[in-house]
Amino acid sequence: MENTNHMWKSRWTFIMAATGSAVGLGNIWKFPYITGEYGGGAFVIIYLVCILLIGIPVMTAEIMLGRAGRKDPIASVKAVSQQSGANPAWALVGGMGVLAGLMIMMFYSVVAGWALDYVISTGSGSYAGANAATIETNFADLTGSFSSQLLAHSIFIVLTALVLIGGVTNGIGRAVEILMPVLFVLLLVLLGYSWAAGDFIAGLKFMFTWDASKITSDAILTAMGHAFFTLSLGMGSIMVYGSYMTSQASIGKTVITIGLFDTVIALVAGMAMFPLVFANNMEPSAGPGLMFVTLPIAFANMSYGSLFGTVFFLLVSIAALSSAISLLEPSIAWLERKGFQRSGATIALAAVAWLGGVCSIYSGEVFNALDYLTANVMLPLGGLLIAIFTGWIVSRAVIKEQMQFTSGLVATLWLWLLRVVAPAGVIIIFANSLGLLS
Ligand code: PHE
Repeated sequence: MENTNHMWKSRWTFIMAATGSAVGLGNIWKFPYITGEYGGGAFVIIYLVCILLIGIPVMTAEIMLGRAGRKDPIASVKAVSQQSGANPAWALVGGMGVLAGLMIMMFYSVVAGWALDYVISTGSGSYAGANAATIETNFADLTGSFSSQLLAHSIFIVLTALVLIGGVTNGIGRAVEILMPVLFVLLLVLLGYSWAAGDFIAGLKFMFTWDASKITSDAILTAMGHAFFTLSLGMGSIMVYGSYMTSQASIGKTVITIGLFDTVIALVAGMAMFPLVFANNMEPSAGPGLMFVTLPIAFANMSYGSLFGTVFFLLVSIAALSSAISLLEPSIAWLERKGFQRSGATIALAAVAWLGGVCSIYSGEVFNALDYLTANVMLPLGGLLIAIFTGWIVSRAVIKEQMQFTSGLVATLWLWLLRVVAPAGVIIIFANSLGLLS
């Protein structure tokens, strides 16, 4: 049944919403810094392979399950398993996803808060001409200050909740229709700036030079975990967004568009950042501080740095907001089904995420544990189960009705990627990182 208050206005709105979910801190903050930590080109290529062979098929499966079930992730998976004559316990996959969304939000909004804080601090010109030591101290002060982080994190959660309270059609849909085009334009502006002012060739070389010695099992696990994280997979965001899609739209084409947007934006974000880092003779391997320390140091030394720095952090904040709304949507949809008003559900869940965020501000260990557990364990595990469920359990009738494949070859390829390649990839990488293969 199509619920008209819970539908995207058009296929384009759905693409913007899903791209908004996918493109976030993962693309602009995490991808460049993990690429820096794991040494560049080889990591990027493993990541691209994971997107293509695992991410795209799993995203297709998630949208299909959401649209076939037309409910929150728990109820959708349950409905599809019943239609397929399978055990309804598969719904636990949806449950883990709802939980993972809340857990991600608990550290995500803290980082988003830093970005908001930086919009103000770069915008007020306080970094212009500042030296490296000052900028390092500023970041350390921010991450050491409970009150500043609490304020920024709280503002971010309130913004997220305001969009969500408006509902799917009028809240999320309208927000992404404005935010995403703005984001694209800002990113292009920054790319132009990096081209003009940075060491573009050094940036490109760093991102695309293959160096086999840099491939470790840790790098591969991180690349795979990041493929799930960046496409918002394995936890129900894309599934619940899929449940708001009209029955006519083609899932396959839509997924390719979203996957391309996400990948291109991650690569462009890298190409907008690394040239600036290299032009200022700095190291790309600064870790999580890459965006908050290394890059501001670069901006501080460059002409129009304050202006472009502000643009940059505005872009990061927008990207984070359009992802954050999708982190809470699965749990909101679930509470709505349980009979809650949308506004009450949103406030309650935002409060839970807020409280968790306070814990991650308070303790770096909580922050890191949430990040590691969700990205490296829960999302790949969720993706693995979704792949197996769709590939082996879901009935052909459901698949046929949703997918309307025009090419038998594509259908077979997709099915076997889900049946074998994606599960094997996830299992091998898990086993390897647990030391079981060495
Ligand atoms: N894909 C988002 C990013 O790259 C993060 C996210 C993960 C959002 C999972 C929703 C669900 O920043």
